[in-house]
Amino acid sequence: MIVAPSLLAADFLHLDSEVRMVNESQADWLHLDVMDGAFVPNISFGFPVIEAVAKVSQKPLDVHLMTERPEQWTERLAALGATFMNVHIEATRHLHRTVQAIRDAGMRPAVTLCPATPVSLLEDIITDIDMVLLMSVNPGFGGQRFIPETLRKISRLRSLIEASGSKALIEVDGGINHTTAAQAADAGADALVAGTAVFRAADPHAEIAFYHGL
Ligand code: DX5
Ligand code: ZN
Repeated sequence: MIVAPSLLAADFLHLDSEVRMVNESQADWLHLDVMDGAFVPNISFGFPVIEAVAKVSQKPLDVHLMTERPEQWTERLAALGATFMNVHIEATRHLHRTVQAIRDAGMRPAVTLCPATPVSLLEDIITDIDMVLLMSVNPGFGGQRFIPETLRKISRLRSLIEASGSKALIEVDGGINHTTAAQAADAGADALVAGTAVFRAADPHAEIAFYHGL
């Protein structure tokens, strides 16, 4: 299983040591949650923080934009060295154009769905993208409970990917713990985002290793 610890749950006064912990762990990517106070009812961090983190991180950056019109940030994110740029389907008007722009900028395009957004909306874009991020909580906050309906969405998305011949990965974000991670893995997830579970664990390295081993 691909594991992407979410920095949202880290100690922001000690980001340097938090990012180094992830560097030294079995984590595959570092997940960065950008919120604009408009698309979601919260504000997290933006480019100055991403730039500082990018200098220290040895893991590929998986940037999740919870912002209106995320396409406007494509060039700036690419310049900071982001690997994945996740845009919400609910926040961008011309998804195909946005996906092409992300790839043209040298990043890997990923499309994110809120819990109530159906997987079927991806039918005509699934072969153009490298990943689908399924939100298993409503975006905006860490530490929420996993929404069980997500498991059926993972299965439906797995079927769509297989039927289309797409190589898109399935990433699941929100409320991941030992139980929900195993359920998501069984349903067909390729990657898990874990914030609270990792950064508030007594032993973050062991926690990351647990998800990595699924
Ligand atoms: C929520 C973010 C998540 C969040 C997950 O809007 O997209 O990445 O950090 O946090 P946990 O793992 O605590 O649910
Ligand atoms: Zn996220």
